[in-house]
Amino acid sequence: MRAGAPSVRCPLVEDTQALGERLGQGLESGDLLSLEGPLGAGKTSLVRGIAIGLGVDPREVRSPTFVLHHVYTSARLRLHHLDLYRLGPGASLDLLDPEELLLTGAVCVEWGDYAALERWNPVRIAADIDAQRGRLFTLLTPGAPARISRLWGVSA
Ligand SMILES: Nc1ncnc2c1ncn2[C@@H]1O[C@H](COP(=O)(O)OP(=O)(O)OP(=O)(O)O)[C@@H](O)[C@H]1O
Ligand SMILES: [Mg+2]
Repeated sequence: MRAGAPSVRCPLVEDTQALGERLGQGLESGDLLSLEGPLGAGKTSLVRGIAIGLGVDPREVRSPTFVLHHVYTSARLRLHHLDLYRLGPGASLDLLDPEELLLTGAVCVEWGDYAALERWNPVRIAADIDAQRGRLFTLLTPGAPARISRLWGVSA
């Protein structure tokens, strides 16, 4: 639990996927989600749910740890899935150009805290492993759009 910030508890991977699905239904072009948390915390699982919410085949969703960037296309939206793990803390985004990606869809960045994303107004979501081996997703950005924050029980 992160002090003062709203969390959603997901005991099972299916719960994480369901949260992602509801997130995906509200996602719009230009949205940037920064997913932050330790190895295995459920970031890719959440993105898989988001893809389902957008109508993308979930089998397409794999961790882009080695290629850095996957693109999934649904009838409604293009979803860019980035993973900065291999770039490490202080990652440079010169190769990825979030501005361009946000013009053409929504962007989810695993290990988003490794790069300086502030200028693109990220919605920051922390993923943590709780004491019961479930997962906890915490909304770190107080001013997130209502279509996102309502999932954490936060009204705009
Ligand atoms: N409640 C849960 N939510 C998400 N994943 C869970 C949960 N319970 C178990 N898991 C398992 O945790 C594993 C890691 O999940 P995932 O790959 O989504 O994490 P990650 O944060 O993307 O890891 P990485 O930092 O390596 O990219 C998966 O095998 C998943 O099935
Ligand atoms: Mg991952």
